[in-house]
Amino acid sequence: MDRGTTVLVFEAPLGSYLYRNALQLRERILREPLGLNVSAEELADDTMRQHFCAVDCGSVVGTVSLRPLDETTLHLKQMAVTAQRRATRIGSHLVAHVEHWGASAGFRLMIASARVEAEGFYIKHGYVREGGTFTEQTIPHVRLTKRLA
Ligand SMILES: CC(C)(COP(=O)(O)OP(=O)(O)OC[C@H]1O[C@@H](n2cnc3c(N)ncnc32)[C@H](O)[C@@H]1OP(=O)(O)O)[C@@H](O)C(=O)NCCC(=O)NCCS
Repeated sequence: MDRGTTVLVFEAPLGSYLYRNALQLRERILREPLGLNVSAEELADDTMRQHFCAVDCGSVVGTVSLRPLDETTLHLKQMAVTAQRRATRIGSHLVAHVEHWGASAGFRLMIASARVEAEGFYIKHGYVREGGTFTEQTIPHVRLTKRLA
């Protein structure tokens, strides 16, 4: 059985137990391999974001966050799934959840800032690349967009 199907997604309010676990996961997966830490700038950005956690048996196994850019557009970033649970649809579950959350709240467009190495994941979920690469956190990124139903 696909273990990812048992995972539930929860909102993780800033400062909550889930948020703190998501932050640890982000640091471990997205920053430490680059020799970086979560910066003060990112923590300030976090205060303007809605955070989500994928939880399995009480453990945070994935996370993603959204920031409204205007009344119709959301910005998605900080997507990470714990290494032991990749390729079990947890990332797909998170993306579907936040797209539904955004559409239900009246947003019409999702913009993702994605690492080039993860671009294929977003393409599989209907995102379209816009423009060339740019550098964030020392590595190449691309901007991808998707209209929300
Ligand atoms: C990218 C990431 C979030 C994907 O999550 P995941 O739970 O492993 O992905 P899923 O199991 O939901 O995969 C869904 C589909 O996307 C594909 N996919 C997953 N990661 C991919 C990648 N990096 N490149 C291309 N395709 C990818 C899977 O093969 C699968 O394809 P299928 O539908 O043909 O079977 C996860 O691998 C991760 O955390 N990676 C390290 C951190 C990272 O790069 N984060 C993204 C920052 S923008």
